[in-house]
Amino acid sequence: MNFEALKGFHDPCFVLAENGTILKLNEAALQFFPPTKSKIIGEKFSKILAPASILKFEDEFSSSFKNNTSTEFEITMQSFDANIYDVNIFISPFISEKNGKRNILLVGKDFTSEKKKESEFLRFYTVAQNTVNPLQITDLNGKMIYINPAFERSSGYKKDELIGQNPNIFGSKKHSSEYWESMWQTISSGKVWLGEVENKKKSGEPFHTRLLVSPIIDETKKVIGYFGIHHDLTDKKILEKQLIHTQKMESIGTLAAGVAHEVGNPLASISALVQIVQRETEDSFIKEKLELVKKQITRISKIIRDLVDFSRPSDYELKSTDINDNLKEAIEIVKVGKKTKDINFISHLDESLPLVPLIADQVQQVFVNILINAVDAIAEKKEKFRNEEESFIKVTTSIKDATIKVVFDDNGIGIPEESLTKVFEPFFTTKKEGKGTGLGLWVSYGIIKSSHGDIKVESVYKKGTKFIINFPLNLIL
Ligand SMILES: Nc1ncnc2c1ncn2[C@@H]1O[C@H](COP(=O)(O)OP(=O)(O)OP(=O)(O)O)[C@@H](O)[C@H]1O
Ligand SMILES: [Mg+2]
Repeated sequence: MNFEALKGFHDPCFVLAENGTILKLNEAALQFFPPTKSKIIGEKFSKILAPASILKFEDEFSSSFKNNTSTEFEITMQSFDANIYDVNIFISPFISEKNGKRNILLVGKDFTSEKKKESEFLRFYTVAQNTVNPLQITDLNGKMIYINPAFERSSGYKKDELIGQNPNIFGSKKHSSEYWESMWQTISSGKVWLGEVENKKKSGEPFHTRLLVSPIIDETKKVIGYFGIHHDLTDKKILEKQLIHTQKMESIGTLAAGVAHEVGNPLASISALVQIVQRETEDSFIKEKLELVKKQITRISKIIRDLVDFSRPSDYELKSTDINDNLKEAIEIVKVGKKTKDINFISHLDESLPLVPLIADQVQQVFVNILINAVDAIAEKKEKFRNEEESFIKVTTSIKDATIKVVFDDNGIGIPEESLTKVFEPFFTTKKEGKGTGLGLWVSYGIIKSSHGDIKVESVYKKGTKFIINFPLNLIL
C-alpha cells in the first residue's frame, strides 16, 4: 500500500494499527488536530471522534480487523476546536510491507454540509407542511412541483390534481392578462412580486389571497423556479363585501325615505286635484286623459309606498307569527295569478317551528314578492326556451341552531352571475317596461334586516334560483 499517493488527497486519510493508534495521516487529516501539536503519530484515533460515535467506531473497526473485510459507515468526528463533522468512513485492512503486520487504511468523507442542507430542507419542509398559509413552488415553466396541505384546503384541489399543472387553472378571469404579465416579468427578472389575487376554487367559489411570489435562485444566481406564499383573504373579502352592501343599502334607505316624504305630499295634492277636476268637467276627452293621469299617480304612489316600507320605523306592531301559516297564505295569494296554473307548488314545512314576534304583514309581503318573482322567472324561461320540464316552486322551512330558515327554490330562468349582487338594489329589474319596478327585493331586504334576519340568493342562470331567509330567534325583538 502506497500511502504517499494519498498525501495530497483532499479527504482525510489515516493508517491505523490494530490497537487503533494512528500510524500515518495525510495533510487533510491534520485539520482535526491543533496546528501546534507536534506528535500525532501514536495518538488514539478515537480521540477525534464525538463521544457518541466511539463505541460504534470500535465495533466496526474490530470486526473489520477480525474478518479482514472492508466496510463503510457514518460517524461524527470532532476536531480539537470542538467543530463537529458528519463523516462517511471507509476502512480497509491491509498487510504492511514493512513489518508484515495487519493495519487499517481509513478514509473519511465529510458530508456535514450536505447533511446541514438536508436538515435545513427538512425544517423547511415541516414548516411548509404545517403552516396555515397556502404555499406553492413552480418550476421555470410555471408548472407546480410542490403545494402544501394548506394550499389543498384553500383551493379545494388535491395535490395529485395540481402537480404538473399551471397555476392558471385557478384563473378567475378577474385580472387582466397584463396583470399576470407584469408578475411574470417581475419574477423572471429575479425580483419579488406582491399582489392581491382572486382565484377560483375547484368548486368555482372565489378564493381571495394576498400572494407573494419569490424567484428561487441557485448559487450561480440563476432563477431555477418560483416560490409562492398566499395569505388567505377570502373570509375578509366576504365580510368586506357584506359590510359595503349593508352600508350601501342603509344609505339608500335613508335617501329613499327622504325622497318618499318629499314626493308623497305634493303627489297627494295632485291626486286630490285630479279627482276634483274629473268630477267637475263635462269634457269626455279630459275625463279620459285624467283617468290615465290617475293610473300613473297610482303607480307612483305604489313606488313611494315601497320606498317607505323599506325604512319603515320599527314601531310597527309585532305579533306572534306562525311563519308556516304566513307562508301558506302567501302561496294562496300568489296562486290566484293566471301564470301559476302549470306550476307545482311544493311545501316542506317544519311543523315544530315556534311562534316568533314579527310584523306579520310585512313578512308576508316579502314572501309574496319572492314567490311572484319565482312565478315570473318560470314564465320567462318557458317563453325563452319553450322547455317542457315541469315547473316547480318549492318552499322549505326548518329550524337549526336557534335560527329559522325559509328557502324558496324555483326552476325558472335563473340569474346571471353578474346580476346576483344587484338584485337587492332598488330599481334593478329585468322585467319589461311597466311590468316591474325593481323595488320588490329591495323592500324585502329592508324588511328582513329590520327583523334582524338576513336574506341571500343563490342562482344558476337557466337552471333556477334559491332565496334563503334566516330569522335568528335570539335576535328577533
Ligand atoms: N326567482 C328569480 N329568478 C330569476 N330572477 C329573479 C328572481 N327573483 C328576482 N329576480 C331578478 O331580480 C330582479 C329584481 O327583483 P325585484 O323583485 O326586486 O324587482 P321586480 O320583480 O323586477 O319588480 P317588482 O318586484 O318591484 O315588481 C328581477 O327583475 C329579476 O331579474
Ligand atoms: Mg319582484
